[in-house]
Amino acid sequence: MKEFNLPDNFLMGTSTASLQIEGGNRNNSWYDWSLKPGKIKDGSNPLRAADHWNRLDEDIELMKKMNNNAYRMSIEWARIEPEEGKYDNEALEHYREEIIKLKENNICPMVTLHHFSNPLWLEKKGGWVNKNSINAFIKYTETVVNYIGEYVTYWCTINEPNIFSLMGYIVGDWPSGEKRGFRAYFRNAENMIKAHIGAYNAIHRIRKEKGFSDTMVGAANHIVIFDSKNNNFFEKLSCRVNDYCFHKIFTIGMCEGRGIFPLTGRRYGEKGKTYADFFGINYYTRNLVSLCFNPLKLFTKVETKNDTPKNDLGWEIYPEGLYRAGMEYYRKYRIPVFITENGTADAKDKVRAKFLYDHLYQISRLIESGVDVRGYYQWTLTDNFEWAEGEAAKFGLVELNYETQERRLRRSAEFYSEICARKAVTKEIIEKYL
Ligand code: FCB
Repeated sequence: MKEFNLPDNFLMGTSTASLQIEGGNRNNSWYDWSLKPGKIKDGSNPLRAADHWNRLDEDIELMKKMNNNAYRMSIEWARIEPEEGKYDNEALEHYREEIIKLKENNICPMVTLHHFSNPLWLEKKGGWVNKNSINAFIKYTETVVNYIGEYVTYWCTINEPNIFSLMGYIVGDWPSGEKRGFRAYFRNAENMIKAHIGAYNAIHRIRKEKGFSDTMVGAANHIVIFDSKNNNFFEKLSCRVNDYCFHKIFTIGMCEGRGIFPLTGRRYGEKGKTYADFFGINYYTRNLVSLCFNPLKLFTKVETKNDTPKNDLGWEIYPEGLYRAGMEYYRKYRIPVFITENGTADAKDKVRAKFLYDHLYQISRLIESGVDVRGYYQWTLTDNFEWAEGEAAKFGLVELNYETQERRLRRSAEFYSEICARKAVTKEIIEKYL
């Protein structure tokens, strides 16, 4: 195993989502969904989660223990706007305090405005398939940025619109759970893209009014590597179709403000302008693609490679995919790259340290090849409510006892803290942990 360095000013921390950690909010699509029998595999719900809402100090202490200088967090729309058009100042104040505390501890915040959960009132109106969602999201964004805009340079508008559309409308395992098919998938995509463009403009405008010129706005794009199973022409074609429907529609829409087939709009922004100041990559795994005769699945069978290391959820661990994804999107857009999420479900903490090493090594290769990677947010700080998997999937660097809310650093967290402190993986660290 090789030693390697990362830049001294590299941002390193963890990434979380409000619904998955905060607890205590019933007014959102996910709590509602969790009450329906069978929707959450282990029968849990997000009401207790990691009780982060009441444990800001404790969690910031954990970040400090890990020598983190960055943190990606999200704001819960349902808390800010519990009823349509009514904004809650206490909730805004809570987030303001959280962000100030982070900064006082030299932890640079990146704030995500939408991470999979909708306020219930929006969900009841049809969620993101309803085009009123676009303006509603922009207004909510303006409210947040007016309130806390001066404290935050890095903004992430929407997390993984592709996964959100897929799980909600095609797979149907997430809210809204109506398997309405491709039409709803693309409509959801189109509305989220328009909302991203509107939010991008609003964040820049408001921050500029406040006197800031260093604003960075982007989205967190879920990137999967699609490889042909048997390396033949038709499978490769099928990989391209998957890449187009699952990545390109969203990335071209959000970065270039351009709608591509079958989206109905042709242009959502000004020609030649880029609506992303950075490209956020959420990277977890690779899928192998072969053919099947089901038009509803785009004639594609997607599976996991045999005989490769996997995590607790059966996802292939394929670090080189991070290099491939970083290269591809940097070549295309030439804007800074942030790894906005990367992590693994590993209850026994058997593979996480090696996972971290391997993925960070790929980042060092990207940087060496000239890719402007600015930061890495490991998914995630503590174990938390992992959507339809519930509390059972353990992605945390920090182990969480849900009953007592006790937090305990896993060995991989100690490993990560040494890397964050040195911005390097040394021989000594390798010998100690791997
Ligand atoms: C990503 C999500 C994040 C978390 C990880 C495991 O797709 O953005 O909230 O669930 O997967």
